[in-house]
Amino acid sequence: MRQIDLSRPELALNGGTPVRRRPWADNFTTGAEEKEAVMRVLDSGYLSKFEGSHTPDPPFSFYGGPEVQALESEWCEYYGCRHAISMNSATSGLFASIGSLGLGLGDEVIVSPYTMTACALAPLIYGAIPVFADVEETTGCLDPDSIERNISSRTRAILVVHQFGIPADMDRIMALAKKHDLKVVEDCAQAHSAEYQGTFVGMLGHIGVFSLNVNKSIQSGEGGVCITADDDVAYRLALIRNHGEAVVGPANYQNITNIAGFNFRLTELQAAIAREQLKKLEGLNCHRLELVEGLSGRLRDHAFLYPPTGRDGCKSTYYVYPIRFDPEKVDITREQFVSAVNAEGVKFYQGYVEPLYLQPLYQKQQLLKHGFPFAAPENRDHNGRYDRGICPVTESLYFRKMIINEHVRWPQSKQDIDDLVYAIEKVTG
Ligand SMILES: Cc1ncc(COP(=O)(O)O)c(C=O)c1O
Repeated sequence: MRQIDLSRPELALNGGTPVRRRPWADNFTTGAEEKEAVMRVLDSGYLSKFEGSHTPDPPFSFYGGPEVQALESEWCEYYGCRHAISMNSATSGLFASIGSLGLGLGDEVIVSPYTMTACALAPLIYGAIPVFADVEETTGCLDPDSIERNISSRTRAILVVHQFGIPADMDRIMALAKKHDLKVVEDCAQAHSAEYQGTFVGMLGHIGVFSLNVNKSIQSGEGGVCITADDDVAYRLALIRNHGEAVVGPANYQNITNIAGFNFRLTELQAAIAREQLKKLEGLNCHRLELVEGLSGRLRDHAFLYPPTGRDGCKSTYYVYPIRFDPEKVDITREQFVSAVNAEGVKFYQGYVEPLYLQPLYQKQQLLKHGFPFAAPENRDHNGRYDRGICPVTESLYFRKMIINEHVRWPQSKQDIDDLVYAIEKVTG
């Protein structure tokens, strides 16, 4: 058991001089190129050019303006995918994905409890039940064994998240999907250009969903992109994005289930910014991975801290840096450790997100009036379980082990990462 004396006077916690007083830079990934792109759009006068109606002739305004359409074709070129459908967020992309797959009452979707809340809400708003499977301790991604245990005769899809930019175990997940005839939606919000055995994540399942929100590897303030190889799914995503219920009649499109079209449209301004950001993705990821390697190399000496190791044969892109703290190997708690290190001028967060099933939405099983959709007759005896204890690995990560750091990104430098390491070394002694 490692012993750490937190009463030492030199620790900032006890009034000593902190390792760092300078603030940490935010995720500013934009520059002159984005400014020029925004000016181009402003000069054009068209801040958005979507039309919420069937537009069979060029310029096909049902599919957005020139910047939106250019972003989508550049996204297809970069990823090598057949269709890219931009959205105004990944949340919208997840909702549209579940809608486009025709899921609803009586269906179950296996989701992670250790991720962004929209992943479980997306099935629920269409009336399908989210069933939480547990995650792997080392990656935070869905554990295929737990997925398998949760598959029932009602399961129709798996919504898998490449958590922290670490690819999920796609071979096993796709094998389960094939065996049980399930759709797979890949949430790549945190995993731009991460690779699973040489293939970009998002290209392995039926739909991949990316986020362009302000914190992500590349960003346009808000935004998202769905990718798919399926022509019909791509059209359905476009219908759900843009008032599809008014479009299906004139377009003579027959499969109208779930085609309640929202306004999930990206503006021309955001699309123009996203196009520039896509060009910077490789460079930003390289920079991030250099910082990650530097930090991981120097954390290995601490017997109670485990740097992330990713997945064999895969490229992880580390949207944030997840460290596991082993409370059995040290005589201070995670909370004491994080407080002491943060007092030195760095920022670590404990736990990441609370297991989603502990939210009031699941505890009370109430989204719509009268407990719907949980209480719908089609969902009677559904297999969603929301009691504390159902996902023990998730709970141990959240309550005891996980520590997150967000400094491992542009414009931080190797010298900034030195401060992180010094802060940890000062506290551990
Ligand atoms: C895993 C995951 N999925 C979905 C989202 C939602 O992204 P957006 O903010 O673009 O709606 C996020 C954003 O935090 C995320 O991290």
